[in-house]
Amino acid sequence: MTVTAITAETLPTLVWQALQRAPLDKHHEWRTPVLATVNALGHAQARTVVLRQAARDSGTLSFFTDARSPKCAELRAQPRATLLFWSARLGWQLRAEGTARVMTDGPAVEAAWARVRTSPAAGDYLSARPPGHVLDGDAPATATNHHLAVVEIAVQAMDWLMLDRAGHRRARIEGTQVQWLVP
Ligand SMILES: Cc1cc2nc3c(=O)[nH]c(=O)nc-3n(C[C@H](O)[C@H](O)[C@H](O)COP(=O)(O)O)c2cc1C
Repeated sequence: MTVTAITAETLPTLVWQALQRAPLDKHHEWRTPVLATVNALGHAQARTVVLRQAARDSGTLSFFTDARSPKCAELRAQPRATLLFWSARLGWQLRAEGTARVMTDGPAVEAAWARVRTSPAAGDYLSARPPGHVLDGDAPATATNHHLAVVEIAVQAMDWLMLDRAGHRRARIEGTQVQWLVP
């Protein structure tokens, strides 16, 4: 990507194209963003997740998780979330902030479980004990029902930063509105 190809008109499309490619490409660096939330004590919490879907029409970014995980409790109490992406290949950092919805049933969860249930990752959602539970030496128990949740973040604003020897560039993106910022 050359710097000159990036204009206020093209930037939102270029960013969403990269987001949409990431879930389909195991080697795409934007496939594994960091999800930041706030816990009940007001502490920032951060962890890696796998981006499962990016939908430009709805402006949403989705990942799968265990419905019992602390991140779900945090998002139910305080749905504001940020996903942080970095790609060394592109030289792009993206901070996407928005409002998260934790879904534990309905078509999105059924479709997700249909994808996951026959994959090696199925066991991640079938543990009888919740994520973070202290291991007590008991044999691992498997639940009969899955605990997969789909978390969908409705993106409100994105902070895009491009590192480039010719000059770093930064923009705030809200929908199709682009505002250039001092990097
Ligand atoms: C490369 C990578 C990908 C991960 N993907 C996910 C994911 O898609 N969903 C998830 O719940 N946890 C994922 N994890 C684990 C989380 O980072 C985290 O350790 C776990 O979900 C517990 O987070 P919590 O205690 O904040 O809820 C991933 C970890 C790594 C290193």
